[in-house]
Amino acid sequence: VVAIDGPAGTGKTSVARRVAEALGFTLVDTGAIYRCAALAAGWAGLALDGPGLEAERLGALAAGLEIAFRAGPGGPRVLLAGQDVSQAIRTPEVSQAASRVSAVPEVRAALLGLQRALGREGGVVLEGRDIGTVVFPDAEVKVFLTASAEVRARRRHLELEARGVHATFEQTLREQLERDARDEGRAVAPLRAAPDAIVLDTGPLSQEQVIARVVELVRGLVRQPETRGAR
Ligand code: DC
Repeated sequence: VVAIDGPAGTGKTSVARRVAEALGFTLVDTGAIYRCAALAAGWAGLALDGPGLEAERLGALAAGLEIAFRAGPGGPRVLLAGQDVSQAIRTPEVSQAASRVSAVPEVRAALLGLQRALGREGGVVLEGRDIGTVVFPDAEVKVFLTASAEVRARRRHLELEARGVHATFEQTLREQLERDARDEGRAVAPLRAAPDAIVLDTGPLSQEQVIARVVELVRGLVRQPETRGAR
């Protein structure tokens, strides 16, 4: 099990996808699962926080999500109740909504089993916020990607522009800081590096360098299984 955690804009999703391809592992994008929960909550008209929050109902909705991942020509596709939501879950609005819904303990509890089931067989790269700390605390490889807030917002802004989603850099930075604060500050499974994670500052590294480093870490382990067994 390879756990890749870190805040938004560190390149986690692309790195995890390319690492999985290089190793022939399955990729599990756990952020996409929280994004689907947020989308489904929106469809059902449920509040995500504030006085109208119905945590039990949100938890039940998360427990019943029908999510499937399929390989597609432009990358993995995400299906929610049979509908392709790959684009719909990547808007700035759904980013915020996913961060809000993910702070609800009932939602996290409901999605934990699903994430563990997806990684159970091993040979898997999971990316998210709490994979190395909560979902798979015994993962053989734990990587925590970081970069300054400006670097991350610049990347996210370029990515949004490339997809034709219009937002200013300042707005992207502001929303990202909001999301960081919420993800780091929540009571259950906050975003943080596991004590045994390898922290990689992606600021000065190219994406190729980050991918190579993670692949090297995994291959190093596979070559020395006796070291792993002795730990
Ligand atoms: O990685 P992402 O931007 O797609 O994640 C969207 C939100 O989902 C993120 O702001 C917090 C939440 N999330 C989480 O709480 N735990 C995870 N393992 C993955 C995502």
